[in-house]
Amino acid sequence: MARRRKIYEGKAKILYAGPEPGTLVQYFKDDATAFNNKKKGVITGKGVLNNRISEYLMMKLGEIGIPHHFLRRLNMREQLVREVEIIPVEVIVRNIAAGSFCERFKAKEGTPLPRSIVEYCYKSDELDDPLVSEEHITAFGWAAPQELDDMLSMSLRINDFLSGLFLGAGLKLIDFKLEFGRLFEDDMVRVVLADEITPDGCRLWDIETGKKLDKDRFRRDLGDVSEAYQEVARRLGLTPEAGPRD
Ligand code: TMP
Ligand code: ASP
Repeated sequence: MARRRKIYEGKAKILYAGPEPGTLVQYFKDDATAFNNKKKGVITGKGVLNNRISEYLMMKLGEIGIPHHFLRRLNMREQLVREVEIIPVEVIVRNIAAGSFCERFKAKEGTPLPRSIVEYCYKSDELDDPLVSEEHITAFGWAAPQELDDMLSMSLRINDFLSGLFLGAGLKLIDFKLEFGRLFEDDMVRVVLADEITPDGCRLWDIETGKKLDKDRFRRDLGDVSEAYQEVARRLGLTPEAGPRD
């Protein structure tokens, strides 16, 4: 088989040209970075788990009517997705104070927020993904006002839905990051959920013990990093050994 054409290589994924026009193959690597590439490492098996976790969460979100780029999983590390034009804005939804929010506001990690707080970052490695406002996003044309409205309303629905889904798995959804893209279909354009939803871009804490089961274990050298990703997949019922064991 001819070698596939690489379209883009990011920190945790590679995109290849897909088998049909308008499709891409999204390959999940084991590479991990943090603090805008300053810390680098490998989390063995992460790519396989993230491929499966993102497939599951995108499918579930599809069932409640969230449009997304996911088409189907191809194998252990690859999934077929629709080609979209990525909007260069990360949407972060926070339920509990953690991470950069705590640094910015000197808040104590674990403090519940009075309501879910949405933040936007401009996707730019060069600028270190700065926090931006809706004004920046629309003034610089990164997204049109209607697109931003759609991103916000989808993000809040996704937060409600995923908070409940993870709660059912004994996990608290502390915060997470989403990316959206423009899907061009016939002569229409619409905004759909893109990228991935995995423990790389979510904070998930065990409901009973508060144990961190996400990329913070890598960021902060807490150990048992692969095991944490494995545990999330297991709780969601996605590993072969899932189910009653003990
Ligand atoms: P933060 O507390 O570091 O700002 O991160 C908030 C959430 O967004 C956390 O779950 C991790 C995720 N995130 C990413 O996935 N990529 C990023 O580049 C950043 C800054 C955060
Ligand atoms: N993914 C980002 C980076 O590689 C930030 C993070 O997740 O901490 O730098």
